Amino acid sequence: SKNIVVAIDGYSSCGKSTLAKALAKKLHFIYVDSGAMYRAVTLYFLRNDTDLNNHDLIIDALQHIDLNFHSRDYQSHILLNGEEVSEEIRQMPVSENVSRISAIKEVRQAMVKQQQKMGKSKNMVMDGRDIGTVVFPHAQVKLFMTADPKIRAERRYKELIAKGEEVSLEEIFENLAHRDYQDTTREESPLTRAEDAIILDNTNLTEEEQLKFAIGKIEPFV
Ligand code: C5P
Repeated sequence: SKNIVVAIDGYSSCGKSTLAKALAKKLHFIYVDSGAMYRAVTLYFLRNDTDLNNHDLIIDALQHIDLNFHSRDYQSHILLNGEEVSEEIRQMPVSENVSRISAIKEVRQAMVKQQQKMGKSKNMVMDGRDIGTVVFPHAQVKLFMTADPKIRAERRYKELIAKGEEVSLEEIFENLAHRDYQDTTREESPLTRAEDAIILDNTNLTEEEQLKFAIGKIEPFV
C-alpha cells in the first residue's frame, strides 16, 4: 500500500511543529520540519556573506549545502554539512532573514526536490508553508493551521526566553507579522491554504485537543 503523508501548513509560530511531532510520535511516522531546511540554508548564506542578488552564486552555493536530519525523539535535529545547527537556526539573525531567502526560486527548487525524495516511501508528517500545495499536492491529509497573532507571539516569546535568548515580545510580534507578510505575498509558492486542507485554528485549543482532532482526520488512512 502507498505511504501516508500528512501535510501541515500555516502561519509562523502556530504550533505546527508541536502538533507534527506529537502526531509522528503517536503514529510512528517520520517527522520532517521543512522550515528547518530553509533556516539552515539561511544560516549558510549569512555565514558566507553570500550576495543574494547574484543568482549564479546562489545556485553554486546550493551545491555546497548538504542537509541531513537526525530524528531523535522526533525532535528533528538538522545537520548543515555535518554540523548540528538545530539551536542556531532558531535565533533571531536567521529568523530575520529566512523569509527573504526562502523566496528565492532556486532555493525552493532545491528544498522541494529533497523533501519530495524523503516522502516517497515512508509514512511522514511534514510541516511548512507549501507542503499541501506544492511539495505533496496528493497528501492524504492536509491541515492548515492558524491562531491569533498575539497568542502566537506570546508562545514564541516564552519559548525563546526559556532558552535564555534576549528578545522582546514586540520584536517577536514584528518578526512573525513580517514573515507572514513575506511568506503570503511572495511570487514563488506563497503560503496559501490548499483547497482540500482542513483549517485548524488552535487559539483556544490545548495540544491534546489538537492532537485528537488531527488523529481523527488521519485515522481513516492508517
Ligand atoms: O516553519 P518556520 O517558521 O521555522 O519556517 C521559517 C521560514 O521558512 C518561514 O517563515 C518561511 O519563510 C520559510 N519556509 C518556507 N516554506 C516551507 C517552510 C518554511 O518558505 N515549506
